[in-house]
Amino acid sequence: MYLSRIQVQSLRIVDSENLEPSPHLNLITGANGSGKSSLLEAIYLLGMGRSFRTRRNSELIQRGEEKLCVSATVVADTGERQVLGIEKTSRATRIRIGGKNMWNASSLAQSLPVMAILPDSLGVVTGSAELRRSLMDWALFHVKPGYLSVLQSYKQALRQRNALLRQGGGGVALESWDERVGEFGQVLHSWRAEYLDDAEGVVRGFSDRLLGIPVDIRYRPGWSADISLKLALERSLDADRRRGSTTVGPHRADLELSSGGLSVRGRLSRGEAKLLAVAIFLAYAQYVAERIGRKPVLLIDDLAAELDENNRRRFLDVLSGMGIQVFITASESRLLEAAHSAGTAMFHVERGATCRVV
Ligand SMILES: Nc1ncnc2c1ncn2[C@@H]1O[C@H](COP(=O)(O)OP(=O)(O)OP(=O)(O)O)[C@@H](O)[C@H]1O
Ligand SMILES: [Mg+2]
Repeated sequence: MYLSRIQVQSLRIVDSENLEPSPHLNLITGANGSGKSSLLEAIYLLGMGRSFRTRRNSELIQRGEEKLCVSATVVADTGERQVLGIEKTSRATRIRIGGKNMWNASSLAQSLPVMAILPDSLGVVTGSAELRRSLMDWALFHVKPGYLSVLQSYKQALRQRNALLRQGGGGVALESWDERVGEFGQVLHSWRAEYLDDAEGVVRGFSDRLLGIPVDIRYRPGWSADISLKLALERSLDADRRRGSTTVGPHRADLELSSGGLSVRGRLSRGEAKLLAVAIFLAYAQYVAERIGRKPVLLIDDLAAELDENNRRRFLDVLSGMGIQVFITASESRLLEAAHSAGTAMFHVERGATCRVV
């Protein structure tokens, strides 16, 4: 799927913009502070209902304005078109899909799967497990209907259990939260185990193409899953009480990266770790596309500058071979030179105003 038209109004520095992007690569260049990330943020808002930079609507809305609006036409592979819109005031969000009001941001994600690869995303290899979990959750949300609601129920039960642990509570109240954490957690685990196994081969392929090293990615559940989560919770109760938080469960899950049986963390150069991070993100995007039969739109911010010329070329090559719509930013056009080919559109942004160059 791809966006054939995007309208942005009063989002940060972007006053009023109307873009007709290419279904393939869209290169966005401009000086620091010109509004490149704001354009990606606009598209992300349409797919996710929220920004990748802030949870506060008031920061997103252009100073002096009351609301921001983003709308776009999404074209499915079947040729079917649908108009999506999102409007935010400082206190409320309004969503429209195909002319109907919607209340749930997850309906946007179903109409427009988007994946953002940001400079922070490069920490997916060397950084904390949280990034890896959010990537898992992104993929599972798209491939498994119902995943988000179970994840939310799990997190809520976990918060209650942790609060009770901190208050030194126990008895029936704790048992009932253990029951819920155990049940929802077991469901999350079974879905992650089932679906993430299939993503392994895709990650191997992408890491091989980008890095020249096939990397194995293995899902780790967050407890030794040869026993039920319920039992693991019982066994960890003393430790959990001391810490005032739950030490076992899907909120502690991780993805382990190895090559030739050895962990790759700590063995890769900084540049290689970044390239592997990109490979993992692209692999997950590809995996989701294959699973749901719809290609996510990729938003890639400021990444070209993080890679050397050789790696940048490989990355842009792989990207253009994926046949998906990509919006990629860089402060200088030379960083994206290798991506110029038929079907590539180039935009230049200056003080929030965008014009198509090629
Ligand atoms: N609510 C707002 N109202 C008006 N302008 C804003 C608002 N929020 C941010 N800005 C401005 O918008 C500008 C564009 O920011 P943006 O992050 O999109 O730039 P960029 O092109 O991605 O820059 P960089 O190359 O540094 O990443 C910044 O100068 C910022 O000060
Ligand atoms: Mg930026």
